[in-house]
Amino acid sequence: MFVITGNPGVGKHTLAKRLAGKFEILDLNRVAIDNKVYKKTRDALDVDVVKLGKIVKKMIRSDTLAVGHLAPYVVPPKQVRFVIVLRKSPYQLIPVYKKRRYAKKKMFENLGSEILGVTAYDAITRFGKKKTFQIDTTNLSVQKTADRIKLVFKKKFKGDRVDWLALVAQKNDLARFFPSK
Ligand SMILES: Nc1ncnc2c1ncn2[C@@H]1O[C@H](COP(=O)(O)OP(=O)(O)OP(=O)(O)O)[C@@H](O)[C@H]1O
Ligand SMILES: [Mg+2]
Repeated sequence: MFVITGNPGVGKHTLAKRLAGKFEILDLNRVAIDNKVYKKTRDALDVDVVKLGKIVKKMIRSDTLAVGHLAPYVVPPKQVRFVIVLRKSPYQLIPVYKKRRYAKKKMFENLGSEILGVTAYDAITRFGKKKTFQIDTTNLSVQKTADRIKLVFKKKFKGDRVDWLALVAQKNDLARFFPSK
């Protein structure tokens, strides 16, 4: 099986739609909702990853492409062949979150998470360096991103190196992205 993960808003589901003909898409958010393994909080769904993990385990096949930011916490690592972590510049994520009308707190939490590479780090921890590949989608079309993913699956592309923290620091924007209140 295969995994596409990454922080909210980086383009996972848009991409999954593009790849739907080739894989059996397993939308982890959808599975959590359909099986009611979440609690509603003020501005998000708090998913029970232990329960979701047990459900997901029963659903995966060899041609499954599991999609969602929760993948590092719910997908059993053994059967996984490739993990794609989509990355996107925080400067391009701001308009995505604004369009979704995220509250300020939620927006900065998610921007901070992408800048620090939380999902990428957690994916590497869970699935290992050898199976985990990052793709920087900044300025990439959906088709170009899909093409790069296919190259990774063919072992012809080793993925991108991403360091948003260095970029943000270089642009003197640390205080902008990590406001003190
Ligand atoms: N390659 C791309 N280039 C430009 N815009 C994109 C690209 N991929 C997705 N988008 C846009 O970015 C926004 C977020 O995409 P999407 O909903 O697929 O993210 P997601 O990673 O699935 O988010 P979530 O984790 O919250 O489900 C959408 O408005 C989508 O149209
Ligand atoms: Mg999505």
